[in-house]
Amino acid sequence: MKKKSEVGYRLRGPDGLEMDLPIRSSTIGPDVIDIAKLYREQGVFTYDPGFVSTGSCESDITFIDGEKGILMYRGYPVEQLASHSSFIEVSYLLLYGELPTAEELDNFDSNIRGHTKISEGMLSFLNGFRCDAHPMAMLSAVVGSMSAYYHEEMDASKKEHRDIFSYRILAKLPTIAAAAYRLNSGQSFVYPRSNLSYCENLLHMLFAAPDEYYEINPIASEALDLLFILHADHEQNCSTSTVRMAGSSGANPYSAIAAGITALWGPAHGGANEAVLNMLEEIGDVSQIGKYVEKAKDKNDPFRLMGFGHRVYKNFDPRATIIREMCYKVLEKLDQKDTPLFDLARELEQVALSDDYFREKNLYPNVDFYSGIIYRALGIPSSMFTVMFALGRSVGWTAHWREMITDPRGKIARPRQLYKGPSARDYKLISER
Ligand code: SDX
Repeated sequence: MKKKSEVGYRLRGPDGLEMDLPIRSSTIGPDVIDIAKLYREQGVFTYDPGFVSTGSCESDITFIDGEKGILMYRGYPVEQLASHSSFIEVSYLLLYGELPTAEELDNFDSNIRGHTKISEGMLSFLNGFRCDAHPMAMLSAVVGSMSAYYHEEMDASKKEHRDIFSYRILAKLPTIAAAAYRLNSGQSFVYPRSNLSYCENLLHMLFAAPDEYYEINPIASEALDLLFILHADHEQNCSTSTVRMAGSSGANPYSAIAAGITALWGPAHGGANEAVLNMLEEIGDVSQIGKYVEKAKDKNDPFRLMGFGHRVYKNFDPRATIIREMCYKVLEKLDQKDTPLFDLARELEQVALSDDYFREKNLYPNVDFYSGIIYRALGIPSSMFTVMFALGRSVGWTAHWREMITDPRGKIARPRQLYKGPSARDYKLISER
């Protein structure tokens, strides 16, 4: 039996011209057909809006099996990482490819804790926004400005620059995010504290009052750490592909991450968690669920059930299963278990999953369906939900940028198109139009 890589695909053009397209084999999951020579030899492009069937790159970082609901970071199932690891340890794994030793983890954690502060100039920049500015607008703007503050250390060919960039993104995004929230809520900025863990520090910067001791609730820190692990990476999703594309031109890494933040903001992507809460509040009551499920099924109605469906997962999103369990735990510990919103979400999930439309189209709750209920229970406003998603995904973006920028075969990303515009025509003077 010949190996797949020996047979390939034979393409025959309309003029009978044949071409062999080699297969590139994966470690696990689908192989790819290498079409790099297609245009040169056949004069045609492939066509795949939204890249449903297109592999954009080769990567060692994350594997997803949408049929079996599998998600692995560097080969480790996300369920095991969720049970045994921490966001900082998972960040090390995503960035460097292996789980750290105790000493490596300690050094990495120290590096992150050592870079949480932001300059007063950056704080002044952020304070220039109106207090009602959306925190995602502030996050993307201030992260993009980081290239103005750290331009001496942006040589991607130097490992020490790639490392210091990674520490700064991981460490400063929570500080910037918390500062945006404090501006929105009319409170003064709370400086980071290096004696706190990643999630404890974020809670401190979000909720501490300058004039009194703030006690961090362990369940809040535990829930955030789990959510950040589950949001840390997800293969070539829209925002990660945006980071890779922006970085492929040689643009500085801070600008590439800022581009990823902007892409994440869309309601079809990371903006869905905020949209889920808005949708649940619009539905309002269990008695209205049927009406909204029908709206979601109506082709003439643009309404979609936010938090449902996924480009890759066609059975269940393993992250949603884990988040749902954490939701119960948080609401129980915070004595909010009879939160109407959670009851409404669970009933909506049951109604949708029993409906033929959703079953036939494989539409299941995704990562965004329950996460907002946890954030809300922790006192985080819905406008900050996508910011929280960005904090988790920041390490995935950074890992993919590092993988892309160190790939010796790397090229600038420049897709082609199916042109359907006018054929050539001559200019007409305005008097002749
Ligand atoms: C994230 O890519 C990633 O990995 C993303 C992410 C990550 O970690 O990075 O997992 C995070 O973005 C999760 C997804 C969050 N978005 C939402 O919850 C928004 C609601 N979901 C939909 O917008 C939609 O399901 C998408 C965008 C998530 C997926 O869209 P696809 O794969 O392009 O599927 P599609 O739009 O072609 O839909 C297929 C069919 C369509 O009906 P037909 O045209 O075949 O008749 O399913 C329908 C759609 O109308 N459909 C929905 C629906 N989602 C798809 N109908 C009602 N409600 C929905 N939510």
